[in-house]
Amino acid sequence: MTPAIEVDSIRKSYASAVVLDGVSLTVPSGVYALLGPNGAGKTTFVNVLTTLLRPDGGTARICGVPLSQRRTVRRLISVTGQFAAVDELLTVTENLVVVARLLGLDAARARSRAAELVEAFDLGAVAHTLVRTLSGGTARRVDLAMSLVQRPAVLFLDEPTTGLDPASRRRLWADIRELATAGTTVLLTTQYLEEAEALADRIGVLAGGRIVAEGTAAELTAVVGGEEVVLTEADGTEVRTLTTDGTVAGLAAALDRLEPDTAALHVQLRRPTLEDAFTALTQHRTTSTEKEVAA
Ligand SMILES: Nc1ncnc2c1ncn2[C@@H]1O[C@H](COP(=O)(O)OP(=O)(O)O)[C@@H](O)[C@H]1O
Ligand SMILES: [Mg+2]
Repeated sequence: MTPAIEVDSIRKSYASAVVLDGVSLTVPSGVYALLGPNGAGKTTFVNVLTTLLRPDGGTARICGVPLSQRRTVRRLISVTGQFAAVDELLTVTENLVVVARLLGLDAARARSRAAELVEAFDLGAVAHTLVRTLSGGTARRVDLAMSLVQRPAVLFLDEPTTGLDPASRRRLWADIRELATAGTTVLLTTQYLEEAEALADRIGVLAGGRIVAEGTAAELTAVVGGEEVVLTEADGTEVRTLTTDGTVAGLAAALDRLEPDTAALHVQLRRPTLEDAFTALTQHRTTSTEKEVAA
């Protein structure tokens, strides 16, 4: 089957700053998370793949269609935020109807599609509320609903949950998972390891303009290292740190190796943070580059 997204060596610079330095990835289907810190080039990458920005080099195909065939690509994709200009002074339903009309549905079909989406995204209680007055989390769900008026083969979500409270974030995660289950391929960008882990079948880490690591959440965690067991005094002062592989057996073995005089210490489990992941992955990249140079 043709992969939903195929990206080969995409490069993009602004003035002298290289932002994308040969990014390649393939997403057969499902959810792919592009994980990277602020300024990594995530939005630039999404803008290239959604035909809003021309790359300096490289190629990409959406469902087999090259980016150069912009009109066809645009019919296959959707991206959240693209309808932001429509919203504020209209109600949720009005917004959905306007988008549907813009996409060429007649008035009756536009109304029924709007009603379907209100139902699917559980927006009934706010269907006739002005978008301007909605909470951040609900507004983001409306935005997502708007990007699905015409069911896209591939949906791009650029930091869909940034700025949301934890409950709204979880709600949006559930919506995204449902979409993927229904067959839409999703490429989302995020700064949060937790989000990538919760949603994505595969995660690519973008740093220094390249994908420095790629895999399932478990595969990436294996690169970063497992959970750490931290032994502290009652006041929180760290005494020892033990690295484990994250399994129950690994934890038991680590504790078994402790001397009896540690019995009064307190135990904390610490998972690698995104920052730890980046440090590890970036160092890993430097090391392998050095090896290549040395070889
Ligand atoms: N239009 C632009 N002109 C010049 N520099 C830009 C432009 N857009 C983004 N950048 C720079 O490119 C880098 C990557 O930006 P961006 O793709 O927005 O990253 P992210 O979305 O991961 O935060 C940043 O250093 C940013 O300042
Ligand atoms: Mg961005």
